[in-house]
Amino acid sequence: MSLLIRGASQVATPTGHGARRGADLARLDVRPRAVVRCEGDRIAFVGSEEEHDRSFPRPDAVLDAGGGCVLPGFVDPHTHPVWAGSREDEFNRRLRGSTYMEIARAGGGINATVRATRGASRDQLLAAALARLDIFLGHGTTTIEAKSGYGLDLATELRMLEVIRDADRSHPVDLHPTCLAAHEVPPEHRDDPERYIRLLVDEIHPAIAASGLAEAVDVFCERGVFDLDQTRRLLADAPRYGWRIHLHADELSQLGGTELAVELGALTADHLIYVSEAGIRALAASETVAVLLPGTSFFLRSSYAPARAMVEAGCAVAVATDCNPGSSPTQSMPAILALACLGMGLTVEEALTAATLNAAAAIGRAGEIGSLEVGKRADLIVLGAPSYHHLVYHYGVSQIRHVVKNGRLVVRDGLRTG
Ligand code: NIG
Ligand code: FE
Repeated sequence: MSLLIRGASQVATPTGHGARRGADLARLDVRPRAVVRCEGDRIAFVGSEEEHDRSFPRPDAVLDAGGGCVLPGFVDPHTHPVWAGSREDEFNRRLRGSTYMEIARAGGGINATVRATRGASRDQLLAAALARLDIFLGHGTTTIEAKSGYGLDLATELRMLEVIRDADRSHPVDLHPTCLAAHEVPPEHRDDPERYIRLLVDEIHPAIAASGLAEAVDVFCERGVFDLDQTRRLLADAPRYGWRIHLHADELSQLGGTELAVELGALTADHLIYVSEAGIRALAASETVAVLLPGTSFFLRSSYAPARAMVEAGCAVAVATDCNPGSSPTQSMPAILALACLGMGLTVEEALTAATLNAAAAIGRAGEIGSLEVGKRADLIVLGAPSYHHLVYHYGVSQIRHVVKNGRLVVRDGLRTG
């Protein structure tokens, strides 16, 4: 099956098979009136319509971009998309002055979602996750990283990871599963967190590794959750399990999680609101991708990660939604782009690369997705606007008109088609 996307005002994309840094972060390939040809699930051509018509047979199907801009599908490299219940009550408490950690220590926070998720069946969790994935897709996201972490016991963590696997099989959005059983200390171990760490190291992580349901592991390295030494112990077996490492680092306080992530050769260090200057230098000299989550800063009304300093230092910067019920209940990468620009000071070009090619690098997939280039997966979006600037400029309003995933039109005029 071949599909030709024509009638675009422009096709804009970063290029390459790895994360971009420094001045290269802003370098987009922008081709006025170009066409994109998909063959099966891959991109077969990007260029002028005349050249296409000379080189290729008539396509099986044509999508008229209607004068819109064509971009790569967004890659969201940090999400918590499986949960039950809702925490809008905490949102209002925070507006009245309570902090995220105060609410967590009073029985709310992650453990409130753990209670609801433990009580939900696999079918209920899957239905909720699929509904969330429809929203991801409608906002132009074609691939996500997906964490467990609202079970905090073996049975529920496995159930969450099975839901992620089943959602990946049945929904157009691709999901890359991460075990986040070390998201918080569950209530039954609060009196002795070391007991939960032993359980994670001796039973939960080995069983999840044996299940093959996770490709990466993550830890919430934070004051009052897991400290540096505990995080180190929790991640020691990751290489043996073939797991890549993500790390929630320096989100609510400056603990040095960023430096630890680099030391451990982590694929990503995430959040980094309180990263130190040494942490920035360490990141810049490493392959670890800095995954910045400006939606969380916005929603928790905290400061933003020092994105400009990181770009200038030469760090590989990506952005993500952090979609979760507590600190960032959104699936919208366009909203995150707006915050990346208006809150963190990235330019539109930098933010776009951070949400596509660099985000693909943050899940180890920059060779396969994240840009519109021959041989990559045919994952793209068509805006209802003539240039990529409108995605951020016209903030708060969805500009996503069509979405193509694996060479198939899955959203047409904002509606799911398959
Ligand atoms: O990335 N920091 C830990 N995890 C999430 C919050 C999860 C929750 O509040 O439910 C985060 O911010
Ligand atoms: Fe998170």
